Amino acid sequence: MQKLAIQGGIPLRGEVRISGAKNAALPIMCASLLTADALRLTNLPDLHDVGTMRKLLQQMGVAADAATGEITFRGDKVDNWEAPYDMVKTMRAAILVLGPLVARFGDAKVSLPGGCAIGSRPVDLHIKGLQAMGAEIAIEHGYIHAKAKRLKGARIFFDIVSVTGTENLMMAAALADGVTVLENAAREPEVVDLANCLRAMGARITGDGTDTITITGVEKLHGATHRIMPDRIESGTFLVAAAATGGSITLRETRADILETVLEKLAEAGAQIKVAGDTIHLEMSGRPKAVNVRTAPHPAFPTDMQAQFMALNCIADGSAMVVETIFENRFMHVQELRRLGAQIDVEGNTSVVRGVGHMEGATVMATDLRASACLVIAGLVAQGETVIDRIYHLDRGYEHIESKLSQLGANIRRIK
Ligand code: EPZ
Repeated sequence: MQKLAIQGGIPLRGEVRISGAKNAALPIMCASLLTADALRLTNLPDLHDVGTMRKLLQQMGVAADAATGEITFRGDKVDNWEAPYDMVKTMRAAILVLGPLVARFGDAKVSLPGGCAIGSRPVDLHIKGLQAMGAEIAIEHGYIHAKAKRLKGARIFFDIVSVTGTENLMMAAALADGVTVLENAAREPEVVDLANCLRAMGARITGDGTDTITITGVEKLHGATHRIMPDRIESGTFLVAAAATGGSITLRETRADILETVLEKLAEAGAQIKVAGDTIHLEMSGRPKAVNVRTAPHPAFPTDMQAQFMALNCIADGSAMVVETIFENRFMHVQELRRLGAQIDVEGNTSVVRGVGHMEGATVMATDLRASACLVIAGLVAQGETVIDRIYHLDRGYEHIESKLSQLGANIRRIK
């Protein structure tokens, strides 16, 4: 089990390049199943989850030739329409092969993803949508068996906004017979990035980025080249780390238009923010002010930034309420933050954080991807040494985080 050791108290200073977005890369890699032509993806982040998704596609028969920061996929020899449990259990996003497999081959056997630390995370909306498009679906021995001669366009209403649900059905509808309308669809920027890639492949999609997406199915999709969008959550994580440590950093190769609520919250906390082209500069002098946070689907405040703002509020001036409305169990970082001296009370989906003057380094344990990021931020701020265990969670979603933080002046090292 690898650990990270951090000596806190150093303000972050300097420049950092933002990587391609994990949550855009994962669905877009699955789009390679929709065509027999070559799909070349650039600006791919070097993440554990990207490696896992590549292996999953390869064991289905998709060729996946990697070069630095890019992979060219080719789905002309797909001969295995199964996503086995041992791969799905480590990466829930594997569910995103379901829609493309049924759409192109009319057959799929995908393991039900188990729950995960942050919640039960059902996939009933993915299944309901495919059934509405004519797929016969049976759930047996923990697997989703889906069959369809050819999917038919349908009008699908999401009871709950689902990011991967929207993405799965958008990919399925791209090859269906007729028009599909997704109502109450997710508006996340990663959904738009997937739609941009599918359009480059010949798909007919409008309305992505709004809550109603219309897809007119086509017979076949062709190859394309697509550059993965910047990671807005990695961007937000570095900005919060700079604000918490009273530093001054510049993010390069990112975008501000996909992070508006996060930038507003950071300004409310007292940070000076300047945006120019694909860079965001943040300056923080003195102690941050506590800021209330309430997560909700995009364009509201992203749940994937909740834990990071909790860390900021731990040492902020004042008290703040953090309300998590998306997942039922996304406060596991609270226990660990308390070990560092944070004052946090939890009542249901609401935490009240009372800012303290300083935190003391301690040994803590990462429980999920964004909780790990939260603990890194807390470790950068706490006095003395913080050791974070189980950092494999972190490696799933942050590319070379300790080298990027070291470049910004942090005293951080990985211990085997
Ligand atoms: C995506 O997960 C992201 N993952 C998550 O990022 C992110 O936290 C989440 O969207 C919300 O923004 C990827 O894009 C790979 P949902 P997803 O379906 O699609 C319920 C990270 O840290 N729901 O939008 O799985 C569900 O239980 C990860 O990078 C159903 O009830 O999330 C949740 O309460 C963590 N039935 C809510 O909807 C369904 O069929 C939103 O989930 C689907 C979802």
